[in-house]
Amino acid sequence: MLTVQNLTVAFGPTVAVRDVSLRAEAGTVTGILGANGAGKTSTLLGILGRVPRQSGRIVFNGHDVTDHGTGALVRAGIALCPENRRLFPNMSIEDNLLLGAYGQGRKTRQERLGRAYERFGWLHDRRAEAAGRLSGGQQQTVAIARALMSDPQLVLLDEPSSGLSPVAVDEVGETLRDIARDGTAMLLVEQNVRLVEKLCSTAYVLAHGQVAASGPVTELLDADAVSDAYLGTGA
Ligand SMILES: Nc1ncnc2c1ncn2[C@@H]1O[C@H](COP(=O)(O)OP(=O)(O)O)[C@@H](O)[C@H]1O
Ligand SMILES: [Mg+2]
Repeated sequence: MLTVQNLTVAFGPTVAVRDVSLRAEAGTVTGILGANGAGKTSTLLGILGRVPRQSGRIVFNGHDVTDHGTGALVRAGIALCPENRRLFPNMSIEDNLLLGAYGQGRKTRQERLGRAYERFGWLHDRRAEAAGRLSGGQQQTVAIARALMSDPQLVLLDEPSSGLSPVAVDEVGETLRDIARDGTAMLLVEQNVRLVEKLCSTAYVLAHGQVAASGPVTELLDADAVSDAYLGTGA
C-alpha cells in the first residue's frame, strides 16, 4: 500500500533520517520503534513532505506521490495523527474533529461526524466542551477521531501513547485495534514496545536515523537489535 524508498531527511547539518526504506501493507498495522531522537517523527513528516527531504520516493497504492502536497495526500487516503496530539484546546471537541475534514462539503463533514460519534459515543455527549478539558487519553481519542475524519486508508500515528497513564495506553490500544479491524491500515510510531507487540504484525526499529532491524514483530522483539537501539548502541 505504502512504499518508502531511500528516504533521507536533513535539517541543515543534522541528518535525521538516512536512507530509510519501509513498507506498510493494506489491512495491517506496521510499527516503527525507536528511542527519542531516532528519527521517527522525521520519517513520518518526510513521507508527507513536511520536512526537508534530500532523497526518497513515496509510492501509495501504485502512484508516485513523492511531490504531492499535504492536501493531495489526504485526498489520496493518508492521514496523520501528529505527535503531542496537536488539538486546539480552546476549541470544542466538535470543531477539532471538523478540522480533520477540512475542505469537504457540509454534507460529507456531517456524515463523518456522525460516524465518529457512532464509534465514540461519549464524544457526542461532550461535543460542545473545550478539548483542553479532557484527560490525556481522551484528547488522544479526539486526535485519532480527527484523523479518521478524512476517511483515510492509511493513518500515520506518531506516539499515540506518549504521556498517557497505563490504563489510558490500554484504551488507546483497544481503539486502534478496533480501527484496524475495520480495515484501516496504520503506520504506528511508538516507544511503547508492548503496544507495538499488541497491534503490529511487522515493525521497523530506527536508531540514529537508520533502520537497525525489521521483520515480523514476534521475531523482532526477541532480537538484540531492539535493546541495542534503545540503549543507543545500535547501528
Ligand atoms: N525541525 C528540526 N530542526 C532541527 N533538527 C531537528 C528538527 N526536527 C528533528 N530534528 C533532529 O532530528 C533528529 C530526529 O528527530 P525526530 O525525528 O524528532 O526523532 P524522534 O521522533 O524519533 O524522537 C534529532 O536529532 C532531532 O534533534
Ligand atoms: Mg518524535
